[in-house]
Amino acid sequence: MTIQIIKTTPFDDQKPGTSGLRKSVKHFKKPDYLQTFVQAIFNTLDTIQGSTLILGGDGRYFNREAIQIILRMAAAAGFGRVIVGQGGILSTPAASNLIRQYQALGGIILSASHNAGGPEGDFGIKFNGANGGPAPESMTEAMFAAAKQIHEYHIVPLNPIPVDKLGTYQLSGMQVEVVDSVSAYLALMETLFDFDKIAALLTSDHFKMRFDAMHAVTGPYGHRILEERLGAPVDTVIQGEPLADFGGGHPDPNQTHAHELMAMLYARNSDIDFGAASDGDGDRNMILGKRFFVTPSDSLAILAANARLIPGYKEGIAGIARSMPTSQAPDRVAAKLGIPCFETPTGWKFFGNLLDAGKITLCGEESFGTGSDHVREKDGLWAVLFWLNLLAEKQDSVENIVRKHWAEYGRNYYSRHDYEAIDMQDANALVDALQAQLSGLAGKSFGALSVRAADNFTYTDPVDGSVSKNQGIRILFTDGSRIIFRLSGTGTQGATLRVYLEKYEADVSKHDQDVQDALADLLAIVQTVARIEHFTGREAADVVT
Ligand code: G6P
Ligand code: ZN
Repeated sequence: MTIQIIKTTPFDDQKPGTSGLRKSVKHFKKPDYLQTFVQAIFNTLDTIQGSTLILGGDGRYFNREAIQIILRMAAAAGFGRVIVGQGGILSTPAASNLIRQYQALGGIILSASHNAGGPEGDFGIKFNGANGGPAPESMTEAMFAAAKQIHEYHIVPLNPIPVDKLGTYQLSGMQVEVVDSVSAYLALMETLFDFDKIAALLTSDHFKMRFDAMHAVTGPYGHRILEERLGAPVDTVIQGEPLADFGGGHPDPNQTHAHELMAMLYARNSDIDFGAASDGDGDRNMILGKRFFVTPSDSLAILAANARLIPGYKEGIAGIARSMPTSQAPDRVAAKLGIPCFETPTGWKFFGNLLDAGKITLCGEESFGTGSDHVREKDGLWAVLFWLNLLAEKQDSVENIVRKHWAEYGRNYYSRHDYEAIDMQDANALVDALQAQLSGLAGKSFGALSVRAADNFTYTDPVDGSVSKNQGIRILFTDGSRIIFRLSGTGTQGATLRVYLEKYEADVSKHDQDVQDALADLLAIVQTVARIEHFTGREAADVVT
């Protein structure tokens, strides 16, 4: 086998963020940029010889070229086998599943998740380890350090593998298996959910749903699972054709970006009972009832409260975890069930140890992520099937299920305000100014609200004891309300400031307020303490979810 050794100069900006290395396509297309990061991944792994790698991506622009480069580099690195999704396509949860199923050393997933795609959009790459989950911080730090040292990469000079055709190919002593992107994932879903009950619901004439794949990776999964396997009518999946630029849209399943779906569900005469959407790489989900939005935090709480109704969770759940900025609604469910609720920093990788140790079964984040111990990533279609199974069991509407949940547990009013693409220095100045006030905030009152504590969140992993500092500024009030400030770790332009607002309301007669009205007091406090306009020139948030 000829291995070419290509000389290169190191890059010092290959630091993975919340979820892998994300940059603009233009940045990724710089000579040797992708190759350097792939070599950095391989250099941090020590048992490559003869092992198995899973490879796939969300189909965005540059996916196909990157797949071929990585295959040739994997052969040079000594992998024995690479399992590739057909056409280079694997959703993030499907890739996580294959890693576990094939007992692979890990997987490389090509995605910038919900970021826009196309030549002017973003690209991304992340490595998931043998448990199927995102590499822990210790490993991503090692990759970053390796990239800064790389002066050469190794590659074999071979023709492209025909990844559109299922089959097994030989590449310089390495076996490449092109597998169906959906089958193994569908089989896993069948072990968790009552497909007969869901099929009965989806084929009945009193229930209609729409699933918005946003022209991203879940198109083929939605068609195969919802329409072909479960028998839903053929127009159930909308925007189901995966496109390299996501049709010019922004594949982020929220009320702003999933506007086609929102319009269908919110139409005055809508006859659609259930709406759901997923993101670029299929790990996020948004859940809608008729003219009704379920916050991701409430969704996690409701799935946890009802888990025993679902075959895969009928023995009950061991515990729940939520990221720190996610609302405290799941905590109330955990308390009632007598199970722990862990609070982790933002980023799915922090759930991995808890899942591996069996401390939790379900986990989720406010950023439209929900999942369980079936894989080590959040899982968009899994959440949709969970909700469908629940609807089939309860024979009730989404809105009623949520309202009954609030009546029992109280409602956590919740909203996130994002200020996007602000100047990095301005963002840092704002955070520094907030940090400087923290020690003086406890005991202070703002109208009816008094500050109980204010800090910058530190997480100590209960399994391996690792400590993650500076994970977000929290202002905690005596009535349980919270304001949280964080800078996003997934953006590619300037900084994105996220402000998370939460207020608890036990009184069922007050569960009908407009969310922003209910949180207005907290937003006023944000303006006082953070002075966002002063630091950034922005009067209001760009995206409110
Ligand atoms: C990705 C990660 C999530 C994270 C989200 C928002 O989807 O997988 O774990 O919550 O991005 O992260 P950010 O740092 O942008 O708030
Ligand atoms: Zn995603």
